[in-house]
Amino acid sequence: MVIRHSATVLCMLLGAGAVHAQSPSASGVCDLYAAGGTPCVAAFSSTRALFSAYSGNLYQVRRSDGKTQDIKTLSPGGEADAAAQDAFCSAAGSKCRISIIYDQSGKGNHLTKAPAGNKDYGPYSDSEAVADALPIKLNGKKVYGIHITPGGWTTPGQVGYRNTHTNGIAKGDDPESMYMITDGTYVNGACCFDFGNAEMDPLVYTSMDAIYFGTNNWWDVGTGTGPWIMADLENGVYNHAGATGSGRVHLNSKGQSLAYPFVTALLKNNKAGATTGGPFTIKGGNAQSGTLTTMWDGARPDGYGSLGKAGGIVLGIGGDNSGGAQGNFYEGVMTVGFASNAVDDAVQANIVAAGYGRNTVSVRDVSSHSGTMNELRWSEGVLRIAGLRTGRVQVTDPQGRSRLFPVSEGQVRTGLLPRGVYTCRILDGNAIEPRNFVVLP
Ligand code: AHR
Repeated sequence: MVIRHSATVLCMLLGAGAVHAQSPSASGVCDLYAAGGTPCVAAFSSTRALFSAYSGNLYQVRRSDGKTQDIKTLSPGGEADAAAQDAFCSAAGSKCRISIIYDQSGKGNHLTKAPAGNKDYGPYSDSEAVADALPIKLNGKKVYGIHITPGGWTTPGQVGYRNTHTNGIAKGDDPESMYMITDGTYVNGACCFDFGNAEMDPLVYTSMDAIYFGTNNWWDVGTGTGPWIMADLENGVYNHAGATGSGRVHLNSKGQSLAYPFVTALLKNNKAGATTGGPFTIKGGNAQSGTLTTMWDGARPDGYGSLGKAGGIVLGIGGDNSGGAQGNFYEGVMTVGFASNAVDDAVQANIVAAGYGRNTVSVRDVSSHSGTMNELRWSEGVLRIAGLRTGRVQVTDPQGRSRLFPVSEGQVRTGLLPRGVYTCRILDGNAIEPRNFVVLP
């Protein structure tokens, strides 16, 4: 329902109603992969344990005074202890950044900020993510995601992580599977918001086998305006087989746009000639509900018949440290072996049950505002949010570009906006359900 008031627009709440909290799943996603014979060899999350028994470090934050603190789970198999981060980082008005994303697999494949790469595309060493930039609710508990903000090919500041000395990651044309939970409302088309297998050395090109998520349209595209799940195979980002080559964009009509606030993006690459599936499979869906849709399951693009993976790991950047991409990351794993469809389905069910965006407390808070929290009004450069006095909001434009704005006395000064459908996400630690607002001519 959108009601037009000259240049003012009312907007509706898109989030679902209250859902009851539940305990962490009996099996972690990596227990499911292990049971299927395709064990995790890298498992990263700032939000939760990915093994049912994992109670170790999830990530490390570093304060501006240089002191660090490891953030663990609240319980074995459970969510991250965000309160420990808040307590540590609030000391002396300090600001924290995420300095290590720990590998839960036991292989020691931890991620730290990426080193400089190609002189033209990623010449600067990367930055660490601001630790409190992405508060969300998971199963009713406050946790933080990893907010990857862009730099540029000729400007520093790209947030990105890498491991250049990995252990046990698939190499050559060996099969591997991976997924990540990302955000369909915070994307761009630059190269490349990637998670997965990349060069150990960003200066030496090899094959890649990494999930790409965003609106990049230099090689392949899907339907609509994106964002799409594709595979960065190096020197190309693809979502199906077919002719490759510069200057040609190829549509995969099965590649859906996934603009959900929480997206499951899954990629599997099998050995060439294997009879166990693929060799090139892309699946995706809403991480809050439903099952995965297969966007491609078949041959690899021309020129990528057999991969020569190096076994490095990247997050948020291209293989040569190409800077310019943006995205949000909540969790992701890499396995050895080509996971079965049954495992893919079980992993998606586990993710849905985990409760991304589920917020029993804030939904009650919202209702206590007598329905007024349902209302956003945008008029002549100012977004007014009933029931919210302070905090921050993330506004994403129809092209998927996001900006953070402070809220002051219920008002957000966005400046004049072109017509279109925008997404507004409140980052006040209470209500995080995204809402759309429409700017009419
Ligand atoms: O394949 C797309 C990008 O091309 C890679 O991520 C990067 O290494 C290269 O510039």
